[in-house]
Amino acid sequence: MKAKVRIDVEQVTAKVNPMIFGQFIENMGRAIYGGVYEPGNPLSDKDGFRLDVIEKIKELNTPILRWPGGNFSSGYHWMDGIGPKDKRPKRQELAWQTTESNQFGTHEFMELCKRIGTDPYLCVNLGWGTSEEAVNWLEYCNSEDDTHFADLRRQNGMEKPFDVKYWGLGNEIYGTWQHGHCEPREYAHKAAETAKMMSRLDPSIKFIFCGANQFDWDREVLEYLYQKGYAPLVDYISLHRYDGCSTYYGSLFSTNLFEQDIVACKGLISEIQKHYQPAKLPMIAFDEWNVWYRKNCDRALFRKYFREGEDLLDEFYNLRDALYVGSALNIFIRHADRVGMANMAQLVNVIAPIFATPKGSYLQPIFFPLKFYRQMHKDYALDVNIETESLTITRELEEEQRGKYADEVPEWRKTDKPIFWNDHWYGRKLAFIDVAATRSKDGKEVVISMVNRHETDAIEVEIDLFDYKPSSGRQVLITGPDPMGYSLKASGLSIADNDYDEEACTAKESQLSKPAGKFTVEIPAHSILIVSMC
Ligand code: AHR
Repeated sequence: MKAKVRIDVEQVTAKVNPMIFGQFIENMGRAIYGGVYEPGNPLSDKDGFRLDVIEKIKELNTPILRWPGGNFSSGYHWMDGIGPKDKRPKRQELAWQTTESNQFGTHEFMELCKRIGTDPYLCVNLGWGTSEEAVNWLEYCNSEDDTHFADLRRQNGMEKPFDVKYWGLGNEIYGTWQHGHCEPREYAHKAAETAKMMSRLDPSIKFIFCGANQFDWDREVLEYLYQKGYAPLVDYISLHRYDGCSTYYGSLFSTNLFEQDIVACKGLISEIQKHYQPAKLPMIAFDEWNVWYRKNCDRALFRKYFREGEDLLDEFYNLRDALYVGSALNIFIRHADRVGMANMAQLVNVIAPIFATPKGSYLQPIFFPLKFYRQMHKDYALDVNIETESLTITRELEEEQRGKYADEVPEWRKTDKPIFWNDHWYGRKLAFIDVAATRSKDGKEVVISMVNRHETDAIEVEIDLFDYKPSSGRQVLITGPDPMGYSLKASGLSIADNDYDEEACTAKESQLSKPAGKFTVEIPAHSILIVSMC
C-alpha cells in the first residue's frame, strides 16, 4: 500500500504550546501511594519518593502536571495535606471509596514537580469546596505577603512562593458521579466567582474552566461567562476523552473522536466570538485523555471499599494503544491553533505509561510516543496534505474484529454490547496513515510523525517537502511484532522482571537514509515513524 504526504514548510498553521505533551496525576489507586511515593520501600529515598519511578518520569520531560484530581479534587481539602505528617488527618475518600492519609499534599506535589522539572497545575475543589478555600490555597502557594496562609507556608518550610500559574476551576462537575455535581449555570456562577477573587490576589494566573465535551454544558457555561463580562478570565476550557474499545480498529477509529471534539469546541468558541466579540478567546485544555479499558472496573463498580494504595484502575497497555496515543498527539499538533494544553491521564499505575510494583517499574507501550513526540517535535505546526487509503467502518468489520479480539473484552463487560463501538460509526472512515508535522522557528528543522494504523500491511509513504532540502536526518520507529502485544505479560503487584517483554513495543533510533526534498519511507504495519530532518 502507498500514501503521499506533502508539506510546504512555509505553511505554518500555529505555534505549538509544549503543554500539549502534559500529564495528570491523582491521589487515587497506586498513582501516588505505591507509585511516585512509597516511604519505606528500598527503592525510595528518605523523603519517600520512588527514585526508579522518578527517573522514568524524567525521560518524558513532562512540561506540565495536573493534580490532585480528577474526581478526588472535588472532595479534597488542601489544608489536610500540609504541616507535620503525623498531624495530618486520615479521611474517608468518597470519589473512589477509599481512604486518604494526606501524606502526599501540596509540598510533596511541588517537590515532585521540581524533581521532574515540570510546571504544576492545581485543580481546586469546586465540588464540596468553597471559593474561599480556593483563594486561600492560592495565597498559600503564590503570595509573598505577610498574611496568614502565606505565613503558614513559611512555617511549613517553604519561604519562597511555589508560583503556580495554572489553576483548574473544578473537575467534571457536570457528572452525576462528582462530589457537588450541579447544573451548568450554577457551575459557571461558582467558577466565575472563584476566578474573580483568585485573580484579585494574583492577576498573573491562568484559569481552566471545566468543560464537559458536551454541547449543552459547554455552551451554557461559556455563554454565562461572556454575558457577564468574565472574558478576560477565561483562559482555557477543558475537555476530557477516554476510549476503551477492545478491538484493534475500534480503538484506533475512536481517535477520530478527538478531532470531532476539538472541531465542535472550536465551533462553539467561534459562536462566542461572533456574539460577544471578546478581546480574547479561550484555548482548549484537553486535560484528561487516554485509552481506558476499565479492565479493573469490575472492582471499582462492585466492590464497596478500597484501601489507600490498592490497585484501583491499574491498566495494561499494548502496542495498539501506543498508536492511539501517537494519533491523539498528532491531532493536538494539527489543532495547535486552539489546543493549548493536553494532559494524558495519568502518569504512574492508574491508566498510565509507567507501571510500578513494590519491586520495580516498567515502561508501557504508550510511554514511547509521549517521550519521542515531546523530544522531537518543534514549536511551529505545519499544514500537511495527506493522500492515504482508508478503512470504512461497517457492521461486518465490527463483527470480525469483535470475534478476533473477544479475549480483550473485560470479564465484567462481556454482556455489555456494543463495547464502545457505536452504530453511528458505520460508514465513517479511518485513514490508514495519520500525520502531523512541525518545524523550528528558523525553518531549518522539520519533524514529521506518522502513524501507520493498518493492522497487517506496511505502507510506503512518499514525502514531498517541495523546496525544503534536508541534508541529514534521524528517525525513531515505534513498533512491535503483534499489534495487540502487551509488554507486561502478567498483572498484579507481584510482576517480576521476566514478566516484562521489552520487545512487545520498542522505540528504535537510526539515521534517516538519504533525506531530500522528496523521499520515500516504508512504515511497517501498526507502527509509528517519527522523522526529524535538518
Ligand atoms: O482519571 C480518572 C478519572 O477519570 C478522573 O478522576 C476523572 O476526572 C475522570 O472521570
